[in-house]
Amino acid sequence: MTDSELRHRKAQADKPVDAAPKKRRAIDADDDDEKYSPWVDILRVLSFLIAASFGLSYVVTGGSSWTWGGVQLPEYMKADWWKEQLRGPVYFTPEELAAYDGQDPDKPVYLAINGTVYDVSNGRHIYGPGGSYSFFAGADASRAYVTGCFAEDITPDMRGVEVMYLPLDDPERDAHWTPAELERMKAEELETARKKAHEALEHWVKFFANSKKYKRVGYVTREDGWLEKLPRRELCAAAQKGRPKRKIPKN
Ligand SMILES: *[C@@H]1O[C@H](CO)[C@@H](O)[C@H](O)[C@H]1NC(C)=O
Repeated sequence: MTDSELRHRKAQADKPVDAAPKKRRAIDADDDDEKYSPWVDILRVLSFLIAASFGLSYVVTGGSSWTWGGVQLPEYMKADWWKEQLRGPVYFTPEELAAYDGQDPDKPVYLAINGTVYDVSNGRHIYGPGGSYSFFAGADASRAYVTGCFAEDITPDMRGVEVMYLPLDDPERDAHWTPAELERMKAEELETARKKAHEALEHWVKFFANSKKYKRVGYVTREDGWLEKLPRRELCAAAQKGRPKRKIPKN
């Protein structure tokens, strides 16, 4: 190798192999040109903290709350609501629901009230086998919640339940009114009774809807016209016995 050849090679080797470091410096320079604003960092930190709090709450409360189980939140702020939106509502036929009566210890315990299904596994000792309300499990027993007839009324059929709030007819008492008065009174009594029956069921609908212990898991689906296909039922004996007497006005 001649001297000049050697010099040439050395010169080649001294040349930068690639231009990357230069490029990176150029990018850094661009960044430095950008105006620095502390607000961007502050917002970043704040939004991280808020998201972290929601997330941690969700984990700590076992997925039941984004806000440490504290404040009552609107539905869309609840984890369950989002779960339901994502997977869509779950529907149970009465037969499917019956499989969740607690007999199988590996399955959760479900019950339904006015067509909405709740997981009552947290109250397995109440609703499960041997529990004092085990007849409610695996079914929509809306009628029984209102009439109190747990043996006869394990059904969602609410037709005629209002009768339990209707005063009994009693010829002796009813003689205090003219037939026209009585007719008007009975119409009012019926309206009031229907309202009472609705409110009695509503009490339980709200009880489960507002419960922190029991989570909504879906709805009962039934074939069209299911109610009309069922025979009309009499008011159960216990509820019949509790019917009020018509009050005679004092004057
Ligand atoms: C029960 O559900 C029906 C519709 O499915 C609704 O019209 C009714 O108001 C509900 N009753 C109560 C007490 O929530």
